Amino acid sequence: MTSKKIAVLASGRGSNLQALLEAFPVHHTLAEIVLVISNKPGAYALERAKNVGVEAVYIPWKKGGQLEFETEAQRLFENSPIDLICLAGFMRLLSSEFTERWTGKMLNIHPSLLPKFKGLKAQKQALESGERYTGATVHFVDSGLDSGEIVLQDQLEILPEDTVESLSERLLLLEHALYPDAVRRVLERD
Ligand code: GRF
Repeated sequence: MTSKKIAVLASGRGSNLQALLEAFPVHHTLAEIVLVISNKPGAYALERAKNVGVEAVYIPWKKGGQLEFETEAQRLFENSPIDLICLAGFMRLLSSEFTERWTGKMLNIHPSLLPKFKGLKAQKQALESGERYTGATVHFVDSGLDSGEIVLQDQLEILPEDTVESLSERLLLLEHALYPDAVRRVLERD
């Protein structure tokens, strides 16, 4: 089996990207991250990619510039060519044309037990809900918000003393193990 090529889209600090870079480094037999794209020029995610010699590209997403962003990203994906896209803290909603083109080949990680607490501030939503457990989910991306088929979830207990910060921190640790596991699952069933 030839190694699958993964592209990661990230808007921010990229700690999930880091976990993926470590799990799927260059020349890994199952898969390798070969491209990282950000819509933010100063995203630390781009630095993380460059640090390990992975192509890091900033594509602007100007107001109303979704099509331009997606066209350029698609061109890069076809160049490689890319087998799987991982969204990791990518803070933009992609068009349905784009998500449909990548059906079954694009994953996202979300810090809640979907379908609970979709969208922004999922950790705060969980904390304010009074639930005893929350968690993280890796799911396929479809045209809805955090609504695609679930690949893998893991849960943790919300402690009485938890703040949004402490809960987010513990969730991140869980996410960093979950995302590579989910990617393995998806690629091994291909
Ligand atoms: C993570 O909590 C992820 O679940 C959510 O955005 C955050 C990104 O964090 N989609 P990082 O940039 O990977 O550190």
